[in-house]
Amino acid sequence: MSMCAPMNSAGTDVSDRQLANSQLGSLEYDPAPESAAIAKLKPSYGLFIDGGFSDGEAHQQFATVNPANEETLSMVAQASSVDVDRAVSSARHAYDKVWSKTTGAQRSKYLFRIARLIQERSRELAVVETLDNGKPIRESRDVDIPLAAAHFFYYAGWADKLEHAGFGVNPKPLGVAGQIIPWNFPLLMAAWKLAPALAAGNTCVLKPAETTPLSALVLAEILEQAELPPGVVNIITGDGVTGAALVDHPDVDKIAFTGSTEVGRMIQQRTAASHKHLTLELGGKGANIVFDDAPIDEMIEGIIDGIFFNQGHVCCAGSRLLVQESVADEVLRRLVRRVEQLRVGDPLDKNTDVGAINSAAQLLRIRELTDFGESEGATRYTSSCALPQKGYWFAPTVFADVAQSHRIAREEIFGPVLSVLTFRTPEEAVAKANNTNYGLACGVWSEKGSRTLWVAERLRAGVIWTNTYNRFDPTSPFGGMRESGFGREGGRHGLEAYLNV
Ligand code: NAI
Ligand code: MG
Repeated sequence: MSMCAPMNSAGTDVSDRQLANSQLGSLEYDPAPESAAIAKLKPSYGLFIDGGFSDGEAHQQFATVNPANEETLSMVAQASSVDVDRAVSSARHAYDKVWSKTTGAQRSKYLFRIARLIQERSRELAVVETLDNGKPIRESRDVDIPLAAAHFFYYAGWADKLEHAGFGVNPKPLGVAGQIIPWNFPLLMAAWKLAPALAAGNTCVLKPAETTPLSALVLAEILEQAELPPGVVNIITGDGVTGAALVDHPDVDKIAFTGSTEVGRMIQQRTAASHKHLTLELGGKGANIVFDDAPIDEMIEGIIDGIFFNQGHVCCAGSRLLVQESVADEVLRRLVRRVEQLRVGDPLDKNTDVGAINSAAQLLRIRELTDFGESEGATRYTSSCALPQKGYWFAPTVFADVAQSHRIAREEIFGPVLSVLTFRTPEEAVAKANNTNYGLACGVWSEKGSRTLWVAERLRAGVIWTNTYNRFDPTSPFGGMRESGFGREGGRHGLEAYLNV
């Protein structure tokens, strides 16, 4: 598989000496692929309902493909509304008969077990995730899977301390939670949804995204291994039709959704006249604000990580760079140079920085929006890296001379595409950062603590990072405002979404 320009995928900005080196000749890395066989995928998977796998009622299946080469990985079941009903009934029965009667300490024990088993099977899970999603193995191995385990560990610690969580003396669970997750962090989003729900005493019906169901199905095997009582977690695969049936099911007490703002809005309408509790984690158009006193090498890496991590398929991505005018030229020059060095290619290769776009549909969306970028007058820099022939690929791209009115400054691209805007004063930076319908995450880069705090106080976003970006930790709440949704996941706050408070 072809690679981009060699050198320095590790991180630091390239010195002139290194640049000179690269002009002398190409120092190519040898391929270092992880073995796909480690995934041990089955040719087909059923629905995980009531503690075991079974066929869907209509026996319909769909293929999940590897976006890096378009090959089918496995066939999975398409759950119908009859299957959704079976899963919800199983969750209800488990809630009434078993889970609502367990002590916090008992629930804790199951969550610890699940966390340990995720760690034990972490290599397998990382390969599964990379095959099904297209993300670099370095990220699934070092970020997705360890953080998923960390979430179960963290909420295992809360399960027997709910009365000390600040939600009253004896907080009660909601009942049956329907949880719908996206394809960008498949196992991690499953962990974000399941761990707090179970700790708080709810039972669950989880629906993974149709392009990335496999890690959730391996997680189902782990739940069996952990001897979680049947029905406490049900995992049903399918597309938006399955998701809608779960949202509409009358015996579901809570819907937790992560995905597009469009679908989130629909779910809010459909649950409005019901008893259902709702949390929505939707899109974003995060501003990464860079002041002229920020240490430039670290900041360049932060910008790169903020937008190219996970191919930019990140709801909190720093997709709008706001750079102070006095350093704009230098920052852009260094950014473009650094983008050339990103290694794009085989997601299973341990040296890959940027993997495959998750689906043909997502690739089309990225292409459409970037075409608008050009036609609306922004200046485009695209990495000259060669892209593999098969699969869904998009070369890392930076747009300069972007105006606030441009679509690429307003709409979520959800791909490896950065829009660069400039500002002169902190006031202008704040005004531009807040000029969006979204409100999920922002970054602020400056040596001066008082300035980062002044800016952070004025930004309208759920998460603000200073001198770093895309940091996640189970102890820290995450979530948005405005069209980025409502409710928090992670931390003590994350319990609230699953308690009747
Ligand atoms: P989507 O919102 O359609 O899919 C997310 C999940 O919702 C999937 O599990 C899907 O099966 C389910 N779903 C779809 N329609 C549904 C319905 N009517 N009722 C219930 N569940 C439904 O997102 P999609 O089409 O994959 O991506 C479109 C755009 O959404 C992306 O380009 C990106 O901008 C944004 N997005 C944001 C995410 C985030 O993390 N906030 C994650 C995924 C996408
Ligand atoms: Mg897939």
